[in-house]
Amino acid sequence: RAILLKDYTAPAWWIDSVDLSFDLRDGGTLVTSRLGLRRNPDVIRSPLVLDGQDLELLSVTVGNRPLGPDDYAFTPDHLTIPDLPGDQVEIEIVTRIHPEKNTALEGLYKSSGNYCTQCEAEGFRKITYFQDRPDVMAKYRVRVEGDKAAYPVLLSNGNLVDQGDTADGRHWALWEDPWPKPCYLFALVAGNLVHIEDRFRTRSGRDVTLRIYVEPGNEDKCSHAMESLIKSMKWDEDVYGLEYDLDIFNIVAVGDFNMGAMENKSLNIFNTKYILARPDTATDTDFLGIEAVVAHEYFHNWTGNRVTCRDWFQLSLKEGLTVFRDQQFSADMNSAPVKRIQDVTRLRQVQFAEDAGPTAHPVRPDSYIEINNFYTPTVYEKGAEVLRMYHTLLGAAGYRRGIDLYFARHDGQAVTTDDFLAAMRDANPDADVDWEQFRRWYQQAGTPGVSGEGAYDPATRTYRLTLRQSLAPTPGQPTKLPMLIPVALGLVGPDGADQPLKLSGDTVTTTGTRVLALTDAEQSFTFTDVPAVPVASLFRGFSAPIKLSFDYTDADLTFLMAHDSDPFNRWEAGQTLASRLLLGLVADRAAGRDMLVATGFIDAIGATLSRASEDPAFAALALTLPSENYLGQLMEVIDVDGIHAARNLVRAAIGRTHRDALLSAYRANAEQGVFSVSPEAIGRRALKNAALAYLMAADDATGTALTLTQYRTATGMTDVITALALIADSTMPERGDALASFAAKWKDEALVMDKWFMIQATASRPDTLANVTALLSHASFNIRNPNKVYALVGGFTSNPTAFHAADGSGYEFLADRVIELNRLNPQVASRMAKSFARWRKYDGERQAAAKVALERVAHTPDLSRDVYEIIARSLEA
Ligand code: ARG
Ligand code: ZN
Repeated sequence: RAILLKDYTAPAWWIDSVDLSFDLRDGGTLVTSRLGLRRNPDVIRSPLVLDGQDLELLSVTVGNRPLGPDDYAFTPDHLTIPDLPGDQVEIEIVTRIHPEKNTALEGLYKSSGNYCTQCEAEGFRKITYFQDRPDVMAKYRVRVEGDKAAYPVLLSNGNLVDQGDTADGRHWALWEDPWPKPCYLFALVAGNLVHIEDRFRTRSGRDVTLRIYVEPGNEDKCSHAMESLIKSMKWDEDVYGLEYDLDIFNIVAVGDFNMGAMENKSLNIFNTKYILARPDTATDTDFLGIEAVVAHEYFHNWTGNRVTCRDWFQLSLKEGLTVFRDQQFSADMNSAPVKRIQDVTRLRQVQFAEDAGPTAHPVRPDSYIEINNFYTPTVYEKGAEVLRMYHTLLGAAGYRRGIDLYFARHDGQAVTTDDFLAAMRDANPDADVDWEQFRRWYQQAGTPGVSGEGAYDPATRTYRLTLRQSLAPTPGQPTKLPMLIPVALGLVGPDGADQPLKLSGDTVTTTGTRVLALTDAEQSFTFTDVPAVPVASLFRGFSAPIKLSFDYTDADLTFLMAHDSDPFNRWEAGQTLASRLLLGLVADRAAGRDMLVATGFIDAIGATLSRASEDPAFAALALTLPSENYLGQLMEVIDVDGIHAARNLVRAAIGRTHRDALLSAYRANAEQGVFSVSPEAIGRRALKNAALAYLMAADDATGTALTLTQYRTATGMTDVITALALIADSTMPERGDALASFAAKWKDEALVMDKWFMIQATASRPDTLANVTALLSHASFNIRNPNKVYALVGGFTSNPTAFHAADGSGYEFLADRVIELNRLNPQVASRMAKSFARWRKYDGERQAAAKVALERVAHTPDLSRDVYEIIARSLEA
């Protein structure tokens, strides 16, 4: 059942042209496909095998000859046509499909009455029989016909070449895409939609029409997405030299979508979550998410579409690269350090967790059962870290040389991560990089650990830094080889300034940050002419996706928090200090000792607060304690309740000790003037709301009064939902009314109601499971809508104390939802099932309960491949 990377073979036939005709009708859509095939001379003669799923086959014609049922072989998944004559042939296939019954949301389906598609990874086979693999690239002509009143807008990829009406109230449109593409980039939309329009002139003078299509009523929530698109187009020209290649670029936003968005050629289809925003409906996080995802999908036009993947094992070729590009873009549009801290926080939260569990896999996996399960934080976010390491090792110019060579060599091709690495290597022949060792970042799963210590010798004025690396076994990879780990470091002197960096043997001295390569299991670096005992600032900007444990004293960390020239490491030092304190408290509690919060850390937080006005956005991050989830990853056996108790205790101590400073930070950053989503305005809101949360944690009347006032008077959604989340998390008597008033106001705004579900699912209250269970029957909830499931069920699984309740009730709840979703939408079911994956990290009682739930899912009849793969891996020893 598993597909293996090593089994890749090129197809026996290429498909050069695809002529599709859709006759959209309720009760059955007819799809006629005419394929222009060409024999692949490099492969031995073999039959044509086409993929198909849930298709009703009506006819097959080869050349002009209709085939009888004896002329082809037919299984539920394949149509095999033996013995095609000649080297070039046309075939026509007619199938009937039922988009109106498609709840899996892959292939052609309906969302709020509109037709749309999602073909990546293997959805095209649910539309027509085809070689559904990314290395088959063809030119598409698409005719779409449907009822004119119900579906006034008819869209597909490329350019609109003709359109017309038919007699019976129907109309049609003919689209042609001049660029060859794999079928996963095919898209079709037919619906009752309105659009906003703008234009962009490329640097070589092409005028591009930009349109964003939404359901009527949402046209006032599209401007941020449009501005983000225009900024992305400009940025890609400036930074990568990449220009758009058609006269039209369309985006359609749909409410039912499994993922964030999809980069179909010139017809991106988006989850409404990543398009629709107005200050009163969307949070700052939403605005930033839209900017990032709009950019991401646009950037795919080159990294993914013009150069695509040979097979799905290469997914990170396009995703890792495109995530890195969208991260660079967002860093340039906003605050680079803030963006980096947010990206690393997410990497640790989700990717490190994946790397440490039963679903761990390399950035380039070797095998899969269901490819949809591999759209993972490892392929995306760790993949982006691999790209960042090329950039760190080669520098911006060397990286760009590699990118240019990659496009010069591979434009129009379907290639591999090895091809990408080769381009980087060949464009930088002088770089001192062992590329075979670097390749292990694609091959070895797991997060490397780096430990070490430094020693200063005042007599010789040398500083000797010793680093060791290790990589624990992961499923299927019992032994590992050392990685090439870029270490961007500085040595911070007692005055807080970066000291000179000169390795013994060096002729030149540098100051600031320097990149070393840790290549051995253990390696020492000796710095000479070091004037005074330094504190090493290691992995600046998080130069490699590793877990560091270095022999810092608490005083070293406090010092770095205050003085490191690298903002990431200033933040990091505070996080390390906080983690130490919190885990110490967890241990105290477990041993029956009193939890006493050391004043050193509370003082350091005070110092951060006193400097907060210098950079509010950074201060908000520096004030945020490591999450319960992340702290859990640092423990051998996760103590769910201990972590929760310790974190709350420290939050309360900060709130009480620094009450006055928090109040003035709150007041100083309260909204003034016109609403804006500039990085400065977002930063000030973040600081204000971080202060509010601490004032609430202090559990006195000030916090609750301020929160209620903010909830009642704020107009921007960031402030409203922050206040409501604090209320929802509390036992305040106003809780019920506040939640009810919000639902009454926003019941018709699906995305806003998602927030309402989410904050109730993430509340740390004893009645959370009961509330979540009741909300499943709420009029605004719909288990068929992925956003609703991610908000309510996903929110619940991210709630440590509720989901991991010792009695197993959270696991039982999730098993019920996974079983229910398995029939409706396997992709969503499987995403939810992944929350079980780390069950062995909990105590025996919880493990036993989780195992019961997992086995119940495993024994469900008709288990989808998606869910099967996750559950089976989770249960493997
Ligand atoms: N390529 C899309 C993106 O990252 C994601 C599509 C994922 N779809 C899926 N069914 N797994 O931009
Ligand atoms: Zn992508």
